[in-house]
Amino acid sequence: MESQNTDNISNAKKINETLDVSLAKCLLPIDQAWSLPPECYSNPHITALEVTNIFQNQWFCVGRVDQLASAGDYTCIDFSGLAIILVRDNNLNYRAFANTCRHRGARLLDGSGRIGGIRCPFHSWTYRLDGSLAGAPHMEAATDFCKSEFSLMSYKVDECLGFLFVCLSRHGQDLGNMLGDFSATHSPWPIETLVSKRLRSFEVDCNWKIFIEVFNEYYHLPFVHPNSIDDVYLAPNPSDFVNGAFASQFGATEGTGGLLQTNQQKPLPLMPGLSGKEAAGVRYSWVFPNMTFAIGIDAMWVYYAYPLTSDRCIVYQTACFPPETIEYDDFDDRVAAYYHRLDAALAEDIPALINQQKGLSNPDAQQGRFQPLLEPNVARFAGWYAAQMRS
Ligand code: FES
Ligand SMILES: [Fe+2]
Repeated sequence: MESQNTDNISNAKKINETLDVSLAKCLLPIDQAWSLPPECYSNPHITALEVTNIFQNQWFCVGRVDQLASAGDYTCIDFSGLAIILVRDNNLNYRAFANTCRHRGARLLDGSGRIGGIRCPFHSWTYRLDGSLAGAPHMEAATDFCKSEFSLMSYKVDECLGFLFVCLSRHGQDLGNMLGDFSATHSPWPIETLVSKRLRSFEVDCNWKIFIEVFNEYYHLPFVHPNSIDDVYLAPNPSDFVNGAFASQFGATEGTGGLLQTNQQKPLPLMPGLSGKEAAGVRYSWVFPNMTFAIGIDAMWVYYAYPLTSDRCIVYQTACFPPETIEYDDFDDRVAAYYHRLDAALAEDIPALINQQKGLSNPDAQQGRFQPLLEPNVARFAGWYAAQMRS
């Protein structure tokens, strides 16, 4: 076992050194930048490094705050060996814990739901929603056993504009520092008050990064979505120059980006407060590393992607609407067309992604270049990612 560990460490180090020159090319300005090296999408050692360098080191987004609406609401997040419990405690604080018992390590919870406390299924240690140990049967016989020393392992949790973030590192920067201009960039939209109406998850046979990349680029629209959504999207504005770990690009639309081009007859009402260009377009934002959303004139749709393996990811989708909109009597009828548009676009994107993954896994696949107007969010992410992986 010892020699196997040594092998893994030396492999990881060797990959790091080999990649360094390639990753440096991702840091160039967008019009000069190269795409990520193909092995970043296909090599299991790189995926393991991503978990260490990014997911265990930086804030990442795990959902919308209204998905944990009441005390006791919880959900489990699992990817690449990490297992996290998110829960709302009795003071309505959001909490995140390692999904492992402090007795002898059993996994504590699965799925999602509402609980009054956390009970380990193995020997029935019980924890309060704030993570403190409430009960440990028969442990009074153990010398110097002190329950206060056996709270669940907790992680930092914070929120911004109704998005919930966790940080598994004790040493990371504040979320506000990481997000920089994020709130200011999105100030025209009432994002914080939007209500989550649809939550679904699915797995895709592609690397987690290419799932988010395709959502963020206009280049593929006429080729992958010629009859569904391409006509809705006009040429986008240049990428916004922002500070913070995100990329964002606004573009005008013909009608609403939330509906198919052939089905624009019954749009939902404009979001409260929108005017000017924001009342006739959509902003695509990627909050690094793993969350992206489109905020349009009437709806916001959000994706979270996590690595399972180098060539398979789990994706969560949420669609959000203003509270005023969901009060409409015919909301359920009208929103069905919005969900249909999401499903139709995904049904076209997913085969393209599976095909891209096959090509990226070719041992002779190479780094490429970006179209600066149509793929700037992807280029900005590549630069951010390269910086994390090289550090
Ligand atoms: S492992 Fe949880 S109570 Fe024993
Ligand atoms: Fe697409």
